[in-house]
Formats: sequence, structure tokens, C-alpha cells
Amino acid sequence: SWVMGDFVQQEIARIRHLVGDRAQVIGAVSGGVDSTVAAKLMKEAIGDRFHAVLVDNGLMRLNECAQVKATLSEHLGINLTVVDAADLFLGRLAGVLEPEKKRKIIGSTFIDLFEKEAERIEKEAENTPNAGKVEWFLQGTLYPDVIESLSFKGPSATIKTHHNVGGLPERMMNGQGLRLLEPLRLLFKDEVREIGRSLNIHRDLIMRHPFPGPGIGIRILGEVTAERVEIARKADHIYISAIREAGIYDQMSQAYAGVDTNKAVGVMGDTRVYGYIIILRAVTTSDFMSAEAFEFPWALLQKIARTIVNSVDGVSRVTYDLTSKPPGTIELE
Ligand code: XMP
Repeated sequence: SWVMGDFVQQEIARIRHLVGDRAQVIGAVSGGVDSTVAAKLMKEAIGDRFHAVLVDNGLMRLNECAQVKATLSEHLGINLTVVDAADLFLGRLAGVLEPEKKRKIIGSTFIDLFEKEAERIEKEAENTPNAGKVEWFLQGTLYPDVIESLSFKGPSATIKTHHNVGGLPERMMNGQGLRLLEPLRLLFKDEVREIGRSLNIHRDLIMRHPFPGPGIGIRILGEVTAERVEIARKADHIYISAIREAGIYDQMSQAYAGVDTNKAVGVMGDTRVYGYIIILRAVTTSDFMSAEAFEFPWALLQKIARTIVNSVDGVSRVTYDLTSKPPGTIELE
């Protein structure tokens, strides 16, 4: 609509004014609608002085990195670097069980890598027409992320540290390092989608369920290991493919397969096996602040459970999470 068209023009003007003629901007992209729309706005505003970075943290879904790369760089023409850091993240997460600790590690590792990338970009731009300091850090933060982080952050407790809001190191928040640029911070998801449409971003990307920055890391209860990430990835791929095939992807707001802390016994043929427990989650929500479990067609859910146990080695059980938010949350951690 014209209201969103206005937003795009005003935001592009605001970004140009803030950033000026020389400074460069670095931004995290994940392949989700928020970071893609934010990146596209930056590209429109300042062209190649915007540098998108996709960090492969080893916690993304099956084939996701390659797909994101194709969409952003080939289809949308955004200046993109992929940083392969799977080993670094998994190394730092080894032996860590506590959810908040996991989030903090993932968040601070992201920031470390971005600061390094910012230095590399500055060096590379020296003596080119684009020469200029990297002064800004783009984030696709939405309004609900902002209020959820602020309202829960009393002096005593933080319910969850959204790594793209509350989990940033002090040096980034107090104006000493990179400054935060958040063009979407006053918008809700449906508004971002509308803007995405007006920017000609592909429908599949616009309708994609949200995927959290810490990725599969907060969908695996307990320790994040390469083996458990692999199990979660395979199960999630089966689950989401079945949902798409059934034509019900757009009826739910978010869906994923997670992995439980412990193992459970099952029988395969004549033998007892001790295997992982998959937790399937699917919710409907209008604002992600509260949510209901999606009412699955029973036969489909059973078929998905069977397929996962039969085709993902090391899995003995599949469960479906019925919890609303509140008291549950959408992610497992
Ligand atoms: P919860 O689990 O808090 O999730 O009910 C609400 C929405 O926020 C997403 N989420 C995150 N997104 N970094 C993100 O970028 C995070 O740390 C994070 N934690 C939760 C979640 O996927 C859901 O859409």
C-alpha cells in the first residue's frame, strides 16, 4: 500500500542521512524475511557501501547456507560474504548446557566475527572509491523483539536474552564500537512482509517462518554437538517438507523439529534401541508474544513421526509439543 511505499522512501532517506557519504555498514543476514528486507533497504540506500555477512554458525538448517547465498547475492544483488565458522561455534558450545549461557556464547561469537569482518572490509576498501570506516551495524530487529527484551529485563531477571537485542556486548551499545542501525524496529512482522512484497522479494522468502539467530542451538535441549545438530537437521527437513507437501505451511506461524536432552528406548525390528527423542513444534500466533499449538491432522502427524523414526538413524521416539505460549515459549530454550 502507499503507506508502506512511503515508509520505504522515508527510511531510505533516513539511512542516507544517518550514514552519510563515506561510512560503510555491515549487516548480519540469515535468509529470513527481516534481515533480507533490512539488507535490501540498505542496498537501495547506499549500494555497495553496505556489506551483508552470513555467518555459517553450524546451527543453520539443511542446505540453508547455499540457499541464502543464492537468494541474496544472485537474486537480490546484495554484496554478500559467507563466513564459515561452524567449528568455532561448536567448539565454544562444547559442554555448555545452560540455555542463557548458550545464547550468550552464540551472541558474543557472532559479534567477534562481525568486528573482524568490519576490519577486513575497511582494509579491502582502502584506496578504492568506497574507502571509508565501517561505522554501523545493521540488524533486522522488529518491534516485538524490542518490547519483549525491554519488558522482561528487570534488575533481577531476564527471561530470554534475544541475541539481536539484549545480548550485545556493552561496547556496541554505548557508542564506542559499531553503532546499531535498526530500520525495522518500529514494525510488526506483517508490515515487514508487506514491505518485502513492495521490494519484489520472492514470495517463498516473504512467507518463510521466522528462524532465530541462535538457530538449531536453542532447539536442542542440553549440549549442542555436531551429532545432535545433524539429527535435528534431518528430522526438521522431513517435518517441514511434509508440511509443505500437505499445503499447510502458511497455516502455521512457525514449525521445527528439536531434540530432547535424554534418550529413550524403542524397538526396531527385534532389537531394543536407545535413541534420541525428537520434539516437533508448530504454533500459530499473530504477534509471537503469545501462541497456540497448531492443530495438526492426526494422520499426517503420525506419518511424519513414522518417517522420522524410520529414516533418521539414532532416533527412537517422536513427540509433539502441545504447550501454548505462555506458559511455554515458541523455541525450546
Ligand atoms: P520465544 O521462544 O521467545 O520466541 O517464544 C518468540 C519468537 O522470537 C524468536 N526468537 C529469537 N530470534 N534471536 C532471534 O533472532 C533469538 O535469540 C531468539 N529467541 C527467540 C523465535 O524464533 C520466535 O519467532
